[in-house]
Amino acid sequence: MEQNKERIEWLRNELHRHNHNYYILNRPEISDREFDMMMKELEALESANPDMADPNSPTQRVGSDISKGFEQAKHIYPMLSLANTYSIDDVDAWVNRTDESLYGQKAEIVGEMKFDGTGISLIYEHGLLVRAVTRGDGEKGDDVTENVRTIRSIPLKLQGDGYPDFFEIRGEIVLPWKAFDRLNAEREAAGEPLFANPRNAAAGTLKLLNSAEVARRGLDAYLYYLLGDNLPFDNHYDNMMEAKKWGFKVSEAMTLLHSIDDVDRYINHWDKARRELPVATDGLVFKVNSLRQQLNLGFTAKSPRWAVAYKFAAERALTRLRFVSFDVGRMGIITPVANLEPVLLSGTVVKRASLHNEDIMRTLGIHEHDMLYVEKGGEIIPKITGVDTEAREADCKAVEFVSHCPACGTPLVRVEGEAAWVCPNKTGCLPQIVGRIEHFVGRRMMNIDGIGEETAALLFEKGLVKNIADLYELRPEQLEGLEGFGKKSAERVIDGIAASRLVPFDRVVFALSIPYVGETTAKKVAKAAGSIDHLMAMGQAELESIEDVGPRIARTITEYFADEANRETVARLRAAGVQMEMPEESVVETISDTLAGKSIVISGVFEHHSRDQYKAMIEAHGGKNVGSISKKTDFILAGDNMGPSKLEKAQKLGIPIISEEEFLKMIE
Ligand code: IVH
Repeated sequence: MEQNKERIEWLRNELHRHNHNYYILNRPEISDREFDMMMKELEALESANPDMADPNSPTQRVGSDISKGFEQAKHIYPMLSLANTYSIDDVDAWVNRTDESLYGQKAEIVGEMKFDGTGISLIYEHGLLVRAVTRGDGEKGDDVTENVRTIRSIPLKLQGDGYPDFFEIRGEIVLPWKAFDRLNAEREAAGEPLFANPRNAAAGTLKLLNSAEVARRGLDAYLYYLLGDNLPFDNHYDNMMEAKKWGFKVSEAMTLLHSIDDVDRYINHWDKARRELPVATDGLVFKVNSLRQQLNLGFTAKSPRWAVAYKFAAERALTRLRFVSFDVGRMGIITPVANLEPVLLSGTVVKRASLHNEDIMRTLGIHEHDMLYVEKGGEIIPKITGVDTEAREADCKAVEFVSHCPACGTPLVRVEGEAAWVCPNKTGCLPQIVGRIEHFVGRRMMNIDGIGEETAALLFEKGLVKNIADLYELRPEQLEGLEGFGKKSAERVIDGIAASRLVPFDRVVFALSIPYVGETTAKKVAKAAGSIDHLMAMGQAELESIEDVGPRIARTITEYFADEANRETVARLRAAGVQMEMPEESVVETISDTLAGKSIVISGVFEHHSRDQYKAMIEAHGGKNVGSISKKTDFILAGDNMGPSKLEKAQKLGIPIISEEEFLKMIE
């Protein structure tokens, strides 16, 4: 027993140290395999010795999929913001003002990056991370400790000694470009909305209720502010260098600056060099180094006088317009798109930029072959912000908005009071139909795997699916012959279609592509109406009484259901078994008794369906979903990242572990 204890402690310390070598110093001493072996040994020892559990153990980085909301926690020192400046002159003026306020003493300045993520406050007691809180309203924020524990560059236990018994350290949680691109690619493939920038992605990820998913996304953190009563040094820079020794990630860009010239050089350097950094930055921060001087300068109501932010200008490039094309969306809305001579902007090549609508296009006054300014200002979708009219060639004509649908040739209509032109040919215009099918099968709608844009177009062209309701009449042999399909992939699609009959009614409402009815509105509308019959019978006024539904949405809903083609689609979906009402609590329609009498535990993160869907499937097939593993458990439906203690317990009791795929086969 005592031996186990020693071994556990030794493994924990070693793993903390190797973690630091790998994630902070980029200097691993052991191979990934050796690291994994030590981690596995620790996991096994911990689950055999539950009394030695420790939330700061390196094994806790994988997170958990138990959802719970966040508690609010009050900040010990309020979390303020920074005053912004936008030019070198403004920064120089701040330096001069500071020196004057200090009665002519020349303040030493620390230059650092302004990381574009989400602020975090970390509390350490006796070298252990005890709490992590978001900025919130500056006075209090959300306690996100569980999620922060999964971030590998944040030490759970500090290195060395010499740290105060109790201190706070602040920094920025960021999602590096690479992880951001990967996340958005996954979301795109799943038909989910993209994050506009790494800042939103980092903030959104930190607030996820499933810390296993947080762990998977690859957040990182840079620390830049140490607070407490017993700090090792009387200046910011030395304190941060010391914090680095304790295991925190402190940016290599943090530098001592001794004069205004130094400050100017620092700005000029990073204005360009920041493009090479692995994370998003939106500026620089300058801070007075001496803590005594900081104290003398003090704070305004909103920000410290001893620090200032310099914001980078949005990156802008000038490039030639090749032509303007017109995209047709699934709602028939026509979007003008500027197709450009490829140009490098913030590290990516830009070839297309949205012009949004006719009004915006006209305000810009775009002519053929114009030289256009493209900006990226922190968002991933570039926008056209201006025209270099002086570079315009003689006799170039203004670009006109199209009068007919570029896909089907139907004359466009403009809805009263709206900026958008719309193609009214809902049932015959290819991109609209394909777009609606694609939307319908998306992960957050009916979640039917294996049908992307190309397949949707192919199914339409082959005459197999002209309408979302046709999906439910597809047979595997019809798919098998198609390009890109084999027996297996055809079956997967058919299985996915069958399983989509269990998707709850609110998602069905979203999946229908009713104009302006997004995910949140669909939920509210479905809940208020209770069933499709009631929804179809609701009048304008009744619809408007639903939260989030204004006159415009109420009108599009009544128009949608007034259309005979849509009513027929709904009738066919209903006949196919798609959910057309909100479930009555706890009453589950039975599909089969394949799982009758079986006690099933769900664990881990799943790829094909959500946990709730699996729960519904288990019940619909006569089984019972139970929370914890016992002798009576028949099997465990396991996704990725199943908790180590659950795994151990299952193995001990000899309970079979079934994968998603095996389970879907079982209930086929
Ligand atoms: S110092 C009291 N340093 O920018 C001053 N903040 O606009 C505390 N930020 O809320 C902040 N990089 O989330 C500081 N090197 C840096 C920073 C930084 C990014 C964020 C931080 C802050 C916001 C203010």
